[in-house]
Amino acid sequence: MNKTKGIVVAVLAIALGLGACNSGNMRRNPGKIYAPDMTYSQAYDAYTHNPNFADGETSRLPVNGTIARGHELPDHLVEGDTNAYKTFTTSMRFTDAELAEGGRLFNIYCGVCHGNKLDGQGPLYTSGKFVAMPANLKDSKYLSMTPGTMYAAIKFGKNMMGSYASQLDIKQRWMVIAYIKQIQSENGGAPFTFGAKEEHTAMAMEETKH
Ligand code: HEC
Repeated sequence: MNKTKGIVVAVLAIALGLGACNSGNMRRNPGKIYAPDMTYSQAYDAYTHNPNFADGETSRLPVNGTIARGHELPDHLVEGDTNAYKTFTTSMRFTDAELAEGGRLFNIYCGVCHGNKLDGQGPLYTSGKFVAMPANLKDSKYLSMTPGTMYAAIKFGKNMMGSYASQLDIKQRWMVIAYIKQIQSENGGAPFTFGAKEEHTAMAMEETKH
């Protein structure tokens, strides 16, 4: 008797097991859902029509006048206003790590023409593939160039040099300029003023006091 019971239980278990697999008879309906609005998102998918906005677009631009986290205020420099270029500057100061990052960016974006040594002998120019002579940033003309004029060259380009505004954000542009100014200061240029070492130690001391 016990044996038959055992067999019945085993057969039932196998039948249930197979039933769970639902093989051969696929169910396409997920069955009852407790909270459908949690299972199925009510959000609009990107690029779909959205009746909630006048322009019908779901993907929105940032609100006017807002600045993304970690980004700088816009610079308001207008192309062609060379007087404004000369006096344009920044209060940003950079740590050694940031200056090294400026150097890395320079070698990526500028070195191909201006040379990693800033001497205007980058491989694109020396190979003859790019005919316009890039500025020799170690030349006295450029040693005395104001940071704002350099900034304008990066933002708007200069004659045969294209704009790097889309590759370098505002902070990165200044990091590159600070790097150039640091090298220039070691090659007869004005003393380097973009360093932040002292300010940082002062801030660190201020923090330990609290
Ligand atoms: C494709 C080559 C090329 C690249 C890349 C390039 N430049 Fe230039 N750059 C030039 C040339 C050519 C000039 C000379 C323009 C002139 O005076 O006619 C120049 C001029 C300059 C000047 C002098 C601007 C002035 O007002 O006289 C600065 C500063 C400068 N470049 C910085 C940079 C920086 C920083 C980068 C990288 C973000 C860079 N360049 C990338 C070709 C290049």
